[in-house]
Amino acid sequence: MILVTGGTGYLGSHTCVALAQAGHDIVIVDNLSNSRVRVIDRLESLCGKRPQFIHGDIRDAALLDRIFADHPIQAVVHFAPRRPGDIAQCWADPTLARQLLGWKATRGLDAMCADAWRWQLSGGA
Ligand SMILES: NC(=O)c1ccc[n+]([C@@H]2O[C@H](COP(=O)([O-])OP(=O)(O)OC[C@H]3O[C@@H](n4cnc5c(N)ncnc54)[C@H](O)[C@@H]3O)[C@@H](O)[C@H]2O)c1
Repeated sequence: MILVTGGTGYLGSHTCVALAQAGHDIVIVDNLSNSRVRVIDRLESLCGKRPQFIHGDIRDAALLDRIFADHPIQAVVHFAPRRPGDIAQCWADPTLARQLLGWKATRGLDAMCADAWRWQLSGGA
């Protein structure tokens, strides 16, 4: 059985589908701070089996102890919570990407939005 933290979020839910399709049983722990519980219904319809869902926060050590005591967890895939350095943060502040990766932003956010808008107006061509 695989524990997926943040399993109702964007990456977590896609990973749950892939894990279920590969034949793994999954248990999800998510505090729903950035996702909806109806994702579980969607996962059930995509996977053919309802994943176990625990509504809780991964900072709750007692909860994690209980989850590990109650389930035969063999692996953990950790998607909660958001980390500094993810896409949204990199776009908002490219300083870390420049320091760590040597990436340099060539356009500011205004220029990128204007470019995206031009692309939309052109029908996405
Ligand atoms: N999406 C990307 O492009 C991307 C890129 C690089 C890294 N990441 C990292 O991957 C991870 C998942 O990204 P995502 O886009 O799926 O984010 P997301 O916000 O869609 O999913 C995170 C999930 O974790 C839950 N969560 C948040 N804090 C929690 C807590 N304390 N306890 C339990 N659940 C909690 C949220 O409710 C949500 O369902 C994040 O750490 C993110 O920083 C994402």
